[in-house]
Amino acid sequence: MRTTVGIIGGGPAGLLLARLLHRAGLDCVVLESRERRYVEARQRAGILEQGTVDVLRECGAGARMDREGLLHRGIELRFEGRAHRIDFPALADGRSVMVYAQTEVVKDLVALQLADGPPLLFGAEVLTVEDPDSATPTVRFRHEGREQTLSCDFVAGCDGFHGVARGAIPAERTAVFERDYPYSWLGVLADVPPSCEELIYARHRRGFALHSMRSPQVSRLYLQVPAGTDPAGWSDERIWDELATRFAVDGDWALERGPITAKSVTPMRAYVQEPMRHGRLFLAGDAAHIVPPTGAKGLNLAVTDVVTLARALTLHHETGSTELLDSYSETCLRRVWQAERFSAFMTDTLHPHPDRTPFEERLRLAQLERIAASPAASAELAENYVGLPLS
Ligand code: FAD
Ligand code: DHB
Repeated sequence: MRTTVGIIGGGPAGLLLARLLHRAGLDCVVLESRERRYVEARQRAGILEQGTVDVLRECGAGARMDREGLLHRGIELRFEGRAHRIDFPALADGRSVMVYAQTEVVKDLVALQLADGPPLLFGAEVLTVEDPDSATPTVRFRHEGREQTLSCDFVAGCDGFHGVARGAIPAERTAVFERDYPYSWLGVLADVPPSCEELIYARHRRGFALHSMRSPQVSRLYLQVPAGTDPAGWSDERIWDELATRFAVDGDWALERGPITAKSVTPMRAYVQEPMRHGRLFLAGDAAHIVPPTGAKGLNLAVTDVVTLARALTLHHETGSTELLDSYSETCLRRVWQAERFSAFMTDTLHPHPDRTPFEERLRLAQLERIAASPAASAELAENYVGLPLS
């Protein structure tokens, strides 16, 4: 098989890249190791920045999102029993975010791709990327029990944190920056209407909690737990009790309970591999970087990477210029590090930890007090949360 751009991974990064390239007239093939049902059901992110919403609309994948997505103009911070609202449009130049689950974005992109897009192979596991720094890199993969090769002009490694593309770059050509956190998130889905209109990020001395949602009928909730926690050790009743304790606020607010339909633990880590390019292999999304989820940036970064890559490949296709391909890694990494900074800040400020001294914990509370008291400090949070402009 031969194509212009071989795309490894059919997550949000790979699927959106395929859509953007198809619309620009470039041919590509997407190889996804899992089956369609699995990819469409994987519970992950829920917040789309305004820029992500705009890109999905522009490439024809916005119709259901516009019908079913929930526009959110703010979030609530809770700490020390008090609630403080961050008003996005007022603080961030009229911008806001959309609550629309990653599962739904993936379903919409898969449907478009299967209807009129370039080939998308499920159950196609990429084994290696060969000769990434030559003029004709090759992707070796296994599909329907047979090993096959895909010859490409370019390869996009969109295969997430556990993929193989990153490993095709020689170690001596890369720098890795990483941080592991001593806590994880226990995430649950519950068949109960959200107890809030906007997301609640709560800091409590027992740990962080986040109240999000998937629809007017389904709530998505997270609890800070120690790294290595087994979700089986958390009964539904224990989860609801702990959430109610951590969200408690002065006044008559109450957390509604309902049947929990999914439960999982997500490790918290930060990771960046530089550069994001080696020869004709380009990394995008989680294949190149991971952020802890507190800033809701992971999915949005994957989107801005592939928008940048699609522009660069399109310019090359139309004019032969390698200018944007040459600046791809640098352009993406500038934004990636801003997202790493914001995600580390949100994570560090909102999660208490016993390894810190009481003095250090007080500094975090003082930081939250400052955000609550100062429009300038709130604006810094709001601008980053809704997403920095694409450079
Ligand atoms: P992925 O979504 O990981 O997609 C990569 C794809 O490549 C997958 O479909 C995988 O099956 C495929 N693949 C892997 N190896 C191969 C191979 N060898 N051959 C072919 N295909 C391969 N972000 C937030 O903002 N908020 C959250 O709450 C949040 N929760 C998360 C929970 C979990 C458990 C994880 C892992 C991530 C979470 N994220 C969250 C991050 C966000 O979901 C990711 O940033 C986003 O999925 C990145 O998209 P991607 O396409 O780069 O990678
Ligand atoms: C969700 C996840 C996040 O990491 C976040 O910061 C906000 C919302 C969610 O899954 O809805």
